[in-house]
Amino acid sequence: MKKKIYLDHNATTPPHPKFLDALQKIHSISGNPSSHHQIGRIAKEASENARYQVASLINASPKQLLWIPSGSQANNMIIKNVLWNHLKTKTPAHIITSSIEHPCVLEACKWAASFGISITYLPAQKDGRVSPNDVKNAITPNTQLISIMLANNETGMIQPLSEIAKIARDHQIPCHTDAIQAVGKISVSLPDLGVDFLTLSGHKFNGPKGIAALYAKNLSALTPLVHGGPQEQQKNAGTENIPGIIGIGIAAQARQETLAHDISHTQTLRNTLKDGLITHFADIHLNTDTEHALPNTLNVSFLGIKAESLAIRLDLEGIAVSTGSACSTGTPYSSSVLFQMGLPPEVVNSALRFSLGAPNTIEEIHQTLTTLETIIPKLRSLS
Ligand SMILES: Cc1ncc(COP(=O)(O)O)c(C=O)c1O
Repeated sequence: MKKKIYLDHNATTPPHPKFLDALQKIHSISGNPSSHHQIGRIAKEASENARYQVASLINASPKQLLWIPSGSQANNMIIKNVLWNHLKTKTPAHIITSSIEHPCVLEACKWAASFGISITYLPAQKDGRVSPNDVKNAITPNTQLISIMLANNETGMIQPLSEIAKIARDHQIPCHTDAIQAVGKISVSLPDLGVDFLTLSGHKFNGPKGIAALYAKNLSALTPLVHGGPQEQQKNAGTENIPGIIGIGIAAQARQETLAHDISHTQTLRNTLKDGLITHFADIHLNTDTEHALPNTLNVSFLGIKAESLAIRLDLEGIAVSTGSACSTGTPYSSSVLFQMGLPPEVVNSALRFSLGAPNTIEEIHQTLTTLETIIPKLRSLS
């Protein structure tokens, strides 16, 4: 059978070989980290070691990192903390976010709005980035949170977070960033970013699925999403997913060791793909400004071709890519992010996301280009 080519690393990444090698050992750690006996303490130590490994990846203190079962839950926790504070204090509250956030932020904001919280959804500019000036202008005396993602999952565009966080600090407003697509793909350092909260997720950097972390500058200010146990400094009740936690630690450390190489490798492959597309196809529109984007991501529209049809044809050839998340915010377009960037429907509906990873090879990129050269004329002749 032909080897499959996986170019969808922003959706999820394959487990790191070091994590797979350690699986048996991981599953032999059987204790409950809350138990005080030796077997429990082994699990606790493994969790703390992983916390150190993940904290190192973002240059944070392990004490400020909480294990949360998913990135979606971690993002919900941050948004809902504003909601609970609002319900408790009965004071007006306002959140500033952007219209290109992941649905777990957008839907949590929508839910919070149904309780009377006002939300400003800042637009992305034509280049896919949120303007710090827009953030500044949106601040009101009631603003209690600024939440802007670090890198967009569809376009790969890196947002000007340090500038946004500085504006937030100047106004004494907590600043959160959903860094789930950025951590493990670019160098992320908390002191440089200067945010109060940051979320990351293991399965985006070759760790296991179902384990994420929330960094909080001031943990004591947080209300848990789940009550009923002392775990995670009383901020997230429930017996910890120890295999997942050890796995995210292994993946974080492995990624930190190879980050510089992985960045340069994926960037070379992405640029080869981009140059090849520009050379071979006249009717394309690049939706990723590669100067300011994740090194692994290229979002490109094949004008006149439905993105879904092209993705299906590529899949039949064993090449996995993505279109935008279908109708994720109720728009009739295949990519809500590109729609929110103000791009015309013919660009939005013909966009594919290629997201590369360390295991990809230059041969796979050449094969993808060759396959596209065969498929695209056929699809054009049908349209
Ligand atoms: C930007 C962004 N935020 C949040 C999430 C959700 O993370 P998780 O899958 O860990 O819930 C994703 C996953 O695709 C994402 O890309």
